[in-house]
Amino acid sequence: MLEELKEIAKKAGAIILSATEIKESTELKTSHRDLVTKYDKLVERTVKKDLLALLPEAAFFGEEEAAPENLQSAEWLFVVDPIDGTTNFVQGFHNSCVSIGLMHFGKVEYGVVYDPYYDELFSAKRGDGAYLNGKRLTLSDRDLMHSLAIFGSAIFYPEITQLSLRVLEKVFLQAQDVRRFGAAALDLCYIAAGRAGVFFECRICPWDYCAGSLIAQEAGAVVTALSGKPLDLYHKCSVLAGVPTAYREVLSLAAPEMEKANQR
Ligand code: IPD
Ligand code: CA
Ligand code: CA
Repeated sequence: MLEELKEIAKKAGAIILSATEIKESTELKTSHRDLVTKYDKLVERTVKKDLLALLPEAAFFGEEEAAPENLQSAEWLFVVDPIDGTTNFVQGFHNSCVSIGLMHFGKVEYGVVYDPYYDELFSAKRGDGAYLNGKRLTLSDRDLMHSLAIFGSAIFYPEITQLSLRVLEKVFLQAQDVRRFGAAALDLCYIAAGRAGVFFECRICPWDYCAGSLIAQEAGAVVTALSGKPLDLYHKCSVLAGVPTAYREVLSLAAPEMEKANQR
């Protein structure tokens, strides 16, 4: 299964690389910050067809179409972000990926994230470790002072901007430095690869973190909501992923803020 998922992600990545009409085909969804291109839709259609040919009994939950009715009761569920990092894609900022997660009765069993620009394929099967281009990823622990912290700005939710900035300020004051790249699935893989010690965002969608959360966990990271609760894999949720020590430090800074704001 994992090998087939990798092939499907690579084929999708080739579509991203061959895109020639990105700006012309960009539409706004909910605001000037929320974009979709014909390539997001094309990749999703292609990936969906390939995934359902591979596992016809599975349900499909992708960003660009309505959630299936049996979302929470499906035995097998594909969770797909066809292009994570669409704003980057539109702006020519080469940090975007295809993200494919496969859940079985509510647990993520497989995750594949492909960055076609760097030809980096991150993958994991539950219990079998995380890999980057076939090479096993293993994390070494460190504290926040010795970690880069990747921030996600929850850009589509102005009602929690102050909350995001409060958490960011606290983390910024203790971390080595902060980064904001713009593709949450890749951010999680960068934790798996040891490029940063911690990633956090106050609200993102299951297709942003389904695959990446397994990849990060299989590499040895801790992944939960910023409140410390388990991720909600069916609804929007905050995410905190990190090596154990930096994770715990950010949790102690963020969880009280999340609780005060009544956010998971
Ligand atoms: C977005 C990216 C971004 C994160 C947003 C996501 P999209 O996904 O992952 O880093 O901050 O919350 O929605 O819209 O580019 O697929
Ligand atoms: Ca996304
Ligand atoms: Ca997307």
